[in-house]
Amino acid sequence: MSSEKMYLLHRGLMLPKDAHSVESLKFAQEFTFQDEDVTVVVYPKSGTVWMQEILPLVLNGGDLTPIQTVPNWDRVPWLEEKRLALVVDKLKSPRGLVTHFPYHLMPPSFHSSKAKVIYVMRNPKDIVVSSYYYHKMAEFLEPPGTFDEFIEKFLKGKVLFGKWTDHVKSWRGADLGHRIMYITYEEMVQDLPAAIRRISDFLGRKLSEEAIQKIAEHCSFRSMKNNNMSNFSLVPKKYMNSDISPFLRKGVAGDWKNHFSPEQLARLTSVIRKELEGESFSLPWSLD
Ligand code: A3P
Repeated sequence: MSSEKMYLLHRGLMLPKDAHSVESLKFAQEFTFQDEDVTVVVYPKSGTVWMQEILPLVLNGGDLTPIQTVPNWDRVPWLEEKRLALVVDKLKSPRGLVTHFPYHLMPPSFHSSKAKVIYVMRNPKDIVVSSYYYHKMAEFLEPPGTFDEFIEKFLKGKVLFGKWTDHVKSWRGADLGHRIMYITYEEMVQDLPAAIRRISDFLGRKLSEEAIQKIAEHCSFRSMKNNNMSNFSLVPKKYMNSDISPFLRKGVAGDWKNHFSPEQLARLTSVIRKELEGESFSLPWSLD
C-alpha cells in the first residue's frame, strides 16, 4: 500500500490512518483539558505504553484494577486518536492522557488549563531500533526497508510524528514552569522505584514506599509482557504480528549497540548534533 493510503498528513506530520482521522484531530483540537488532567507527552517508541501502566497506578495509589481490566489504549487514551471520543466519558478525574503531538499542536484548552505534563525522552539511537522492529510487525505502517534506509527516514522525519529533534526542541522549549516534568526512559530502566517516586512527588501524591514498590513490580517489563491488557495481544495478528517482533520487545537501554555500524552512528550523531546546535538544553545522554 502506498504511504498516501496509509498515512494522514497533519500539519506536516505522518499519522497512521488506522488510528487517526480528520475527525479525531478535530476532536483533539476542541478537547477541553481540565486542571487535574495529567498528560504524558512522548515521541513514539520512547515509553508510551510503559507510562500508560505507571500513571493510573500513581494517580490511584496502587490499585491494580485499571491495568488488570482496561486495555492501555482506553486506560490512558491518546489525545489525537479515534478512541478518545469513544471513551472520554468513562474517564474518571484525575484523567490520564497521552499524546505524541509536538507542543505547537496542543489545543487551546491545554494552554489555558493547569493540566500537568510528563515528558518522556529516550535515546534516539534506541528509538530508531525499536521503531524499526515496530514498522516490521505493525501492518498499518509502511515497511521500514533496510536498517540503513530506516535511519534516513528517521533523520528526515519521514516516520510517525515527524522528526525526533523537532519534538524534543518543541517540548524542551515549552514555557510551562512547574506544570512539566522531564524524565528519561533510561532513568526508568535504571531505577524504576526512584522514577515512580519522582512522578508521584510531581503529581503531589504521597505514596508510601510499599505502594511505590508494588507499582514498580507491576510495571516491570516482565509483568507488562504477561499483562494482556498491555502487551497488545488483544490486537489481531493481522494488525500487529508478534511473531515478527513482540511489541514489548527487549525493554533495555543500549540495544542500538547491536544494530548500528560505525558509519551509521556517525551519520545519526552528526545530523542530530547539527539540528540541536544552539539549543539551551543539553541531552541527558552522550550521542557517541
Ligand atoms: P523496545 O522495542 O526497545 O523493547 P512505545 O510504548 O512508546 O511505543 O515504546 C515501546 C518501547 O518501550 C519498546 O522498546 C518496549 O519494549 C519498551 N517498554 C514498554 N514497557 C516497558 C517496561 N516496562 N520496561 C522497559 N521497557 C518497556
